[in-house]
Amino acid sequence: MIKAIRGTRDLLPPDTDLWNRVEAKVRELFAGYNFHEIRTPIFEDTQLFSRSVGEETDIVSKEMFTWDDRARAQSEKPQSLSLRPEATAGIVRAYIEHRLGDKGTLQKLYCIGPMFRRERPQKGRYRQFYQIDAEIIGPPSAGSESPARDAEVLEMLATLLDEVGLRGWNLQLNSVGCAEDRARYNQALRDALKPVVQQMCADCQRRAETNPLRVLDCKVPEDQPIIEKLPKISEYLDQPCREHFAAVRAMLDAIGVPYSINERMVRGLDYYTRTTFEFTHGGLGAQSAVLGGGRYDGLSELLGGPKAPAIGFAIGEDRLMLALESQGEQPKEMLQAFVAPLGAGMNPHALKLARELRRAGVSADLGDENFRLKKSFELAEKAGAKFIVIVGENEVAANQFAVKNLASGEQVQVLRSGLAKHLRQQ
Ligand code: HAM
Repeated sequence: MIKAIRGTRDLLPPDTDLWNRVEAKVRELFAGYNFHEIRTPIFEDTQLFSRSVGEETDIVSKEMFTWDDRARAQSEKPQSLSLRPEATAGIVRAYIEHRLGDKGTLQKLYCIGPMFRRERPQKGRYRQFYQIDAEIIGPPSAGSESPARDAEVLEMLATLLDEVGLRGWNLQLNSVGCAEDRARYNQALRDALKPVVQQMCADCQRRAETNPLRVLDCKVPEDQPIIEKLPKISEYLDQPCREHFAAVRAMLDAIGVPYSINERMVRGLDYYTRTTFEFTHGGLGAQSAVLGGGRYDGLSELLGGPKAPAIGFAIGEDRLMLALESQGEQPKEMLQAFVAPLGAGMNPHALKLARELRRAGVSADLGDENFRLKKSFELAEKAGAKFIVIVGENEVAANQFAVKNLASGEQVQVLRSGLAKHLRQQ
């Protein structure tokens, strides 16, 4: 039997009901903040990711699904393509390619879709997973660099998580400074690592040379005591970066969004500058980050585009759903009515009634005139319907239907004209 590939999974009903409910809420909320949807391809030129996310990151060096696309002509070299491991790089590419910066306004863009990373699968970690990603990108003249954007994004996330019903989230905040700060910090790390790096894992030994910041991503337990003692990024921020971070924190304090500072959090992607953040949740076990994000003021220029400071985040949808389920969120939307035709010739009448109900916004399932009443009841219960509506000859003639509440057992006769209202009641 052919099975789904390791690290991928089928999302089945009723879980998909919860996914859709959350996505609908998120889309509505995004609209309220003037975000609009962008859809970019699922695969891109590999270089897009290696240049933006960073050659030395785990994502690019170990986890991408990459292949050589067949060359069109014999003289051509095959092009290296990769499934997107994240959405930001593709969105910034699209921003540059379509000259969205020329509009002179902030581009507030979001996308929802699958991402791909060849990670070791475990609970909350998959090789195909889903992100809800949002980005604010624009020319500095539109205010893209302002700490007000950071605060706006973080306030939106706090509201979003509250509105989808997630309780007990924690916001962890840090600043990784600008490119110059990072260069000084990398040098400090290099110096600090020199005397100890021989005791570390092979990845750390290489990264200590090529990109010392990435040593902080190391998960090897034996390396942790060494990493704990390394210098902290906060000691290397210049005055403008310190002030920017202080302004973000002051705005969060002013509106009462709680956070804690986590100086170790440098995030596993190279493009970040200044503010970085993660929201974590206790119901997730080891993979506790529900979402992550931050500022990336230099990415557009790095990819050959105009100056376009930006900030964004990606919610791990799989993890958000796990966290919601861990606190008892019911995935299933309840079916409101099971319409049961009773006796020969009743199918058209039942179909007509179901059509009316559905058009009035009542979710309805249909039985069949060949089913005995007992079977209709069983099917209605299996379908999780709140009510069963009996459509027999007498009912049709009287234009009044027997309606039974399957939970309470209460049965009443309801006129056709009042039926939809009756079925919509809780
Ligand atoms: P990231 O931290 O790599 O950031 O991923 C964001 C979120 O995606 C994580 O917090 C996690 O919830 C989820 N996630 C990541 N990998 C997996 C996986 N293998 N299985 C399940 N969930 C996963 C980014 O991707 C950045 N592009 C975010 C961003 C947008 N920064 C600025 N703009």
